[in-house]
Amino acid sequence: MTHKHAQALIQTVQTLTEPGKGILALDESNATCTTRFQAVGVPSTPETRRLYRELLMTAPGSERHISGAILYDETLRQATSEGVPFPEFLSSRGQVPGIKVDTGAKDLANAPGEKVTEGLDGLRDRLAEYHGMGARFAKWRAVITIGDELPSQLCCEANAHAMARYAALCQEAGIVPIIEPEVLIDGAHDIDRCEAVTEHNLRIVFRELQLHRVLLEGAILKTSMVISGLRAATRAGVQEVAERTVHTLQRSVPAALGGVVFLSGGQGAVEATRHLNGMQQLAGNRTPWPMTFSYARALQQPALEIWGANQESVVEAQQAFAFRAHMNALASRGEYRDTMEKEVA
Ligand code: G3H
Repeated sequence: MTHKHAQALIQTVQTLTEPGKGILALDESNATCTTRFQAVGVPSTPETRRLYRELLMTAPGSERHISGAILYDETLRQATSEGVPFPEFLSSRGQVPGIKVDTGAKDLANAPGEKVTEGLDGLRDRLAEYHGMGARFAKWRAVITIGDELPSQLCCEANAHAMARYAALCQEAGIVPIIEPEVLIDGAHDIDRCEAVTEHNLRIVFRELQLHRVLLEGAILKTSMVISGLRAATRAGVQEVAERTVHTLQRSVPAALGGVVFLSGGQGAVEATRHLNGMQQLAGNRTPWPMTFSYARALQQPALEIWGANQESVVEAQQAFAFRAHMNALASRGEYRDTMEKEVA
């Protein structure tokens, strides 16, 4: 990789992790988007999906807090109501357009209950096309399930191998890879177990990235937090989640990595904000990599509910989204306080 090529990747990472900003995950597949829309009673069509994504991307004020948006293939090819292609619209506001390039998690052979993420076939050509359309970063999500005997070494290794090949192909194409190994929150496991699984898996992920000669400075890790399972008998509080997550990352993530962003993974909107804030208050700028948010549900849910109840309520839904973006931007600096929720409500 030439110096110029590497610098372009690093510049994209720096734009995405600019202090006080985070990434909007807007890359639900059509199937996932349909599930989200069904929950609020909205039919899922290419046009309703376009309108909803437009509502979020054009929300006034959100550009101050959102550094980039991860789109789905359909969305990358769509445009605002004025006919401006979404990637062009984002770029014109100084936001980086991104694209989800995996094709989903499928059953992993010989590993009952576990998944491997697919999407490597034809990826080099797809990345070239996406780059031509303006995408400068990509996302690939792997899922790791915690169970009595899970995850298996096979599942961790297979997913890490695929992610490393994806990351190398992205960088070859001038696209920053976001590597997202999500340890699922589903289950009754305690935070100790989540910590052990997260650390074990991250070590495998970074070993594979190194093997595949991925430039860490030009890559971003999107991780789940170290958190109790949703059905755990007792669930750890904000301080403990913050401490466990930061310490686990410090033990497992090389200092050279460009940035760490968090997924919300089924946490409530305010809960996800509190956790990010807790981590920043604990670690501030003392971690070797910037840390910020890359939420989907935790940024979108309040807006989706308003829009779902009345699709005329575009302004109200945009305000709800811009508000969550603002709260998370404050949290990414450790400047969020619970009272801010009440002040505006
Ligand atoms: O892949 C998942 C998304 O990028 C993040 O979504 O914040 O709802 O977990 P989430």
